[in-house]
Amino acid sequence: MIELNIDNKDIIIRFKNITKKFGDFNAVSDLNIEIKKGEIVGFLGPNGAGKSTTMKMMAYLLKPTEGEIWIRGNGRLEKLSNHNKDYLLDNIGFLIENPTFYGNVTPRIILKYFAELKGYPKKQLNQRIEEVVEMFGLSKWIDKKIKTFSKGMRQKIGIASAIIHNPDIIVLDEPQTGLDPQARREVRDFILQLKKIGKTIFLSSHLLYEISEVADRIAIINQGKIVAFDTLDNLESKAKKSIINFELLDHPEKNNLNIVLDHLRDILAPFTGVSEKINEVNWINYKEEAKIFQILFNGDPKNQLIILKTLLRHEYKVIEFSVPKAGLLEDLFIDLVTTGSSHPSNSTINENQKQKEILVEV
Ligand SMILES: Nc1ncnc2c1ncn2[C@@H]1O[C@H](COP(=O)(O)OP(=O)(O)OP(=O)(O)O)[C@@H](O)[C@H]1O
Ligand SMILES: [Mg+2]
Repeated sequence: MIELNIDNKDIIIRFKNITKKFGDFNAVSDLNIEIKKGEIVGFLGPNGAGKSTTMKMMAYLLKPTEGEIWIRGNGRLEKLSNHNKDYLLDNIGFLIENPTFYGNVTPRIILKYFAELKGYPKKQLNQRIEEVVEMFGLSKWIDKKIKTFSKGMRQKIGIASAIIHNPDIIVLDEPQTGLDPQARREVRDFILQLKKIGKTIFLSSHLLYEISEVADRIAIINQGKIVAFDTLDNLESKAKKSIINFELLDHPEKNNLNIVLDHLRDILAPFTGVSEKINEVNWINYKEEAKIFQILFNGDPKNQLIILKTLLRHEYKVIEFSVPKAGLLEDLFIDLVTTGSSHPSNSTINENQKQKEILVEV
């Protein structure tokens, strides 16, 4: 249960005991999240977890069955209702689910439409549209028809339309889904830029890596329930384990791989700091496609150093050695969404791998 401090002046959005039922089905159950001014809160959950439903309630597109949504307007938190929705929501930019635009319109027309809808001052409108389009590096495309745009470019126009009226709060529902790595990075950088200029961002995704790179705090939702809400660091320490990735100069031959793995098991087993199941073989893995080895360890930098030293001492030509930031989160996420527990079990890499491949798009 999340503690809510009623008097906290930093809070800009508060979901209080929100439940949304569709018939008998609880799409969202007793959800409590508060978001502070200037932070990025990542809303992470698998398909059908209730992310879009929650965001739609905030946008007043769906009504909660129970609970309240509070939004700061004019300096104080106000309960979102029919009476104040226009004024409260004018200060928020929403991108909910995939935007679809008519192919024959241009970014200029789309952005003008959304800016006018939100009451952006007419005099500054053209300048603002040009500025925002430039932020996305799409200036040359401002008067081109959307039907000639790639998926990534359309998505950027979707985000641009959410922020065109310069809101303080930005709600983005899966802005990176369906984008290639390059476009994802651009969107990620853009989100960080928005934070830099003081915006508050509520961002949903099932892409763990994307969330872990930008979010100050992460709310994990599963089957309509919040199963964790904390900083990445705190979530990581809950996970109590991590993964080291390393690559060797000479990639092991297929017929030699088991010998290499056996040797690595022998020399590294004492230093992973993970006592459970350490005798099983699959705490160390070789990812054929990426040509990297993965070792499950306890996340302690001291163990990380010893593992590296041990590899070098045994003359392994290590050319890459890293602990992916999202590694811990992946494990925790999978533990949370498969067991619903905030005390993840000490499962091995392989046990999780199948679910990861379904849930995680890296
Ligand atoms: N209008 C509706 N009527 C009935 N059920 C709905 C409705 N909208 C959503 N649901 C159900 O509520 C659950 C949560 O849906 P929601 O769209 O919020 O999930 P999500 O976390 O956004 O998933 P995704 O990652 O696939 O976008 C799903 O089981 C969905 O089928
Ligand atoms: Mg959704």
